[in-house]
Amino acid sequence: MRIRAAVLEEFGSPLVVQDVDLAEPRAGEVLVRLVACGVCHTDLYTASGADPSGYSPTVLGHEGAGVVERVGDRVESVAPGDHVVTLFSPQCRECIHCRDPRTNLCLAIREQQNRGYLPDGTTRLSRDGEPIRHFMGTSTFAEYAVLPEIALAKVHPEAPLDRACLFACGLSTGLGAVINTARVEAGTTCVVFGAGMVGLGAVAGCRLQGAERIVCVDLSEERLELARGQGATEVLLGGPEAVERILELTGGFGADYTFEATGNVAVMRQAVESARMGWGLATMCGVAGKGETLDIVPRYLITGRRVAGSSFGGVKGRDGVPQLVERWLAGEIDVEPFVSHTLTLDEVNRGFELMEQQAGIRSVIRFAD
Ligand SMILES: NC(=O)c1ccc[n+]([C@@H]2O[C@H](COP(=O)([O-])OP(=O)(O)OC[C@H]3O[C@@H](n4cnc5c(N)ncnc54)[C@H](O)[C@@H]3O)[C@@H](O)[C@H]2O)c1
Ligand SMILES: [Zn+2]
Ligand SMILES: [Zn+2]
Repeated sequence: MRIRAAVLEEFGSPLVVQDVDLAEPRAGEVLVRLVACGVCHTDLYTASGADPSGYSPTVLGHEGAGVVERVGDRVESVAPGDHVVTLFSPQCRECIHCRDPRTNLCLAIREQQNRGYLPDGTTRLSRDGEPIRHFMGTSTFAEYAVLPEIALAKVHPEAPLDRACLFACGLSTGLGAVINTARVEAGTTCVVFGAGMVGLGAVAGCRLQGAERIVCVDLSEERLELARGQGATEVLLGGPEAVERILELTGGFGADYTFEATGNVAVMRQAVESARMGWGLATMCGVAGKGETLDIVPRYLITGRRVAGSSFGGVKGRDGVPQLVERWLAGEIDVEPFVSHTLTLDEVNRGFELMEQQAGIRSVIRFAD
């Protein structure tokens, strides 16, 4: 079929929205009609050419939500009409990692996905017979996408898809880092560095876990206001003095849990240094630049602080995303303040501009019904 899609032709240049060909889903694959897709930093990171593993041409987009249109052979977990959220972090339920509760890093299709192919090593996307690669196994800046069955979370049919798409990446990452990775306990003190989609999700997660104090640190007053709306009990302007301020706020000890959601390695260090002596756990969510390293004075670790990292919030997507969506529908999570702009697919580059200007938290592309 012919579909409209936003193609990354050349690194550093705007995406080109155009008609491309999409082949039918093969065994284990699903054709999804996209309803909405968030515009995320990872899309821009790849489009800019900064990502060393990037490739082109490819259809970008990975925060998709839509409706199953058709399924290939042997697909059992979804059927036409089901509402789904796309998963760049899939869950096969069979590999050694999927069977272990300690990780969500499914191994089933990792290699092919990283290279831009579907699990059988080919693409369904093409143009004039030339293959176009699938970005993050999703390629959801498009009217339709073919995805592996294991990369789809079936969500409640009443969840509005132009909000549900946020659970495909940043929001689940923040919520999950708190709920799954750190497993924050009730009554504790938490600090979240960064109040973008990921950090705000983490603030909401701390609230859901019953944290007593939630301190959010950011450079933007406007974003700190949003953090208050998600449950931050205290806010702090970031900078070189942030650790000192946090120690002052916590009787000199630091916080039980800290979360980093900026991608800045200096802030990651602050997250370690403001975690409490004895048992403080610092969880890193941000993606650092190529070659950057996190500097930690070992004394911080010997005296009982621990460091963890979290990919997609440790969420095993097919099981975890539907549960988070249920909590949203039950009124426990307020996603409305996160969506600042609604765009058409043709306006996708505007979404990148808004992100660069830090205008709002998320732009969501709404596809024509
Ligand atoms: N681990 C994962 O699976 C995963 C998934 C999605 C995104 N990410 C990463 O998480 C990070 C955050 O993503 P986002 O979408 O929320 O980004 P964002 O750019 O919207 O938010 C980052 C926030 O950090 C703040 N910030 C910058 N410097 C600061 C400082 N010195 N002190 C305090 N705050 C500071 C900014 O003001 C901004 O509000 C990025 O690095 C992104 O690549 C990771
Ligand atoms: Zn993302
Ligand atoms: Zn797996």
